[in-house]
Amino acid sequence: MNRFVKFVALCALLFAVACTEKPEATSPDGRIAVRVEVDNDGAARYSVTVGDKVVIAPSLLGIITREGDFTKFKIAGLHRTSHDEEWFSPWGENKRHVNRYNELAVELSDANGVNNTLTVRFRIFDDGIAFRYELNEPDSLTVMDELTEFRFAEDGTSWSIAGNFETYELPYRELPLSAVEDANTPFTFRTESGIFCSLHEAALYDYPEMTLRRTDDGNGLISALAPLPDGVKAHISGTFTTPWRTIQICDRAVDLINSSLILNLNEPSKIEDTSWIRPQKYIGVWWGMHLGTQTWIMGPRHGATTENGVRHIDFAAANNIDGVLFEGWNCGWENWGGDQHFDYVVPYADFDLEYIASYAREKGVQLWMHNETGGNIPEYEAEMERAMKRYAELGVHTLKTGYAGGFKGGYLHHSQYGVQHYQRVVELAAKYHIMVDVHEPIKATGIRRTWPNMMTREGARGMEWNAWSEGNSSEYLCTLPFVRLLGGPMDYTPGVFDIDYSTAKADKGRLKWNGDNEHCCIKTTLARQIANWVIIYSPLQMACDLIENYDGHPAFAFFRDYDADCDLSRALQGEIGDYIVIMRRAGDRYFLGAGTNSEARTIEQPLDFLDKGTNYTATIYCDDIASSEPEDYVILSREVTADDTLTLELLPDGGAAVTFIPLQHS
Ligand code: NOJ
Ligand code: CA
Repeated sequence: MNRFVKFVALCALLFAVACTEKPEATSPDGRIAVRVEVDNDGAARYSVTVGDKVVIAPSLLGIITREGDFTKFKIAGLHRTSHDEEWFSPWGENKRHVNRYNELAVELSDANGVNNTLTVRFRIFDDGIAFRYELNEPDSLTVMDELTEFRFAEDGTSWSIAGNFETYELPYRELPLSAVEDANTPFTFRTESGIFCSLHEAALYDYPEMTLRRTDDGNGLISALAPLPDGVKAHISGTFTTPWRTIQICDRAVDLINSSLILNLNEPSKIEDTSWIRPQKYIGVWWGMHLGTQTWIMGPRHGATTENGVRHIDFAAANNIDGVLFEGWNCGWENWGGDQHFDYVVPYADFDLEYIASYAREKGVQLWMHNETGGNIPEYEAEMERAMKRYAELGVHTLKTGYAGGFKGGYLHHSQYGVQHYQRVVELAAKYHIMVDVHEPIKATGIRRTWPNMMTREGARGMEWNAWSEGNSSEYLCTLPFVRLLGGPMDYTPGVFDIDYSTAKADKGRLKWNGDNEHCCIKTTLARQIANWVIIYSPLQMACDLIENYDGHPAFAFFRDYDADCDLSRALQGEIGDYIVIMRRAGDRYFLGAGTNSEARTIEQPLDFLDKGTNYTATIYCDDIASSEPEDYVILSREVTADDTLTLELLPDGGAAVTFIPLQHS
């Protein structure tokens, strides 16, 4: 076809599209609608309405590359499909998912209507929308910027951490939407009309993370991608699909949590045999290092010694705990924070790795290895296959990685370079049947569906912050499920029972990392620590305290009974930053966790999630409201059915955890 004929044909097509179809689509239930418009200057915008309320006002779409801009368009074609599928994951908050959406692919040509340049694919679910850019160019491209905007039709309240390309370990800010200068995602907000939304991304591969910053005109937020050292955002092939930009939308805050939207936007598993991938409960040689009572390096207070290893394996075997993590087992911690070179294979002389591996095997306990890289990516990439091969020989199936330190070469953790590195680790680990728990990770965007060995990650302030900083407030803990955890599981590492070691220090002569930091303590009741095992979902769930601190605690029975391999979860009630109640089912047993912020609270929780017609023994681990000591708790037992309502009295910063075991089992 010569150029003129092509031009006429395209004009005819554009005319036909313009006459017959509007570039808009609705969710299967008809409630959420997305509309696309292209103005006279060729700028493309999308908007989102919920019922008769506009939530996202017309907001710009586009990508700027060094080779050419994808910013001025004409609509060249519209393609629609619908999808309704049920799928199952090997593990997760839920194992069954429903993936139902209407799809609208908007083909955009350049402003002259000559070349088809870009497709923006929208998926509209009953609980939100997503879109991504699909490029189809012959040559590779250098992405300089992405123009995706989120212009809010109304003001509202938002919860987020600041936009930062190096860390997610930042405090939450509760801010009017109109006052947010920059933020990372998940970015959760409630509009003045009372609609709950969260902006995030799904399926982040080969591209930098998206943070948000205020638009130059001040009327919304725009995508801000983590740059490479030379300022370029990404090098991509000409046929490239960006991550999905997602907007979860629902009426109740807890329904943000009860959504499979992020997972639905990821591809099915690339690992065929997933039988080796199993949720676990674990303990570790870990908390002592953060308290400063033990060290990673070899010396008189070394944590990972053979003797301590055996003690931990025995404790795990005796308490129905699947795994034991060892940090500081390998040579190289002396220079951590400086010019670090870890050895990922050679253990310290006082840690007999072979013996520990065989002892763990004998006791039926999983041995976890830890690889702190300190950010030395080139060295880790050179060594990681040798290390993983060795771990596989030792029967190790779980690896915790860490990136505490700036990346060599000025690369940012969340840049395309970082995203590609984190992905290489996951894929290599899959080859060696190793499950991964990443600290200082890239954000969770649902890739666990495609790579189910990507179990859990940190990516927010975890328990460690209570050992050496002002610590995590109970308000923070009531915000986490509605923001960070929407991305996916978190290795928060809950479960400190010796909750006030700043005062205990004086009593017990303890050593501490941060000297006399008086803020240094757990800011919740002990019952809330138990509740957090349920609330903060992780398929690898840790009881992180020194194992001796569980001695003599009847409440540790909760962790013994807890099953990290759950089938179904529901956030039952809660408000962002105020309180949260979550239940999980594993087999025929149910677990419930409830937590409040600094206000005392009475929670009335109907038990209608239990199986009808079954009687359960409910064991309730709750705050001792007659006591002012946060360590004090009460354990109650009673028979309940689905017709009952449980009343839980929570102290300020408190919580409650409940196990429901069918009566014939107890
Ligand atoms: C930070 C991680 O979050 C923590 O879990 C680990 O113990 C230290 N880095 C040392 O690797
Ligand atoms: Ca960390």
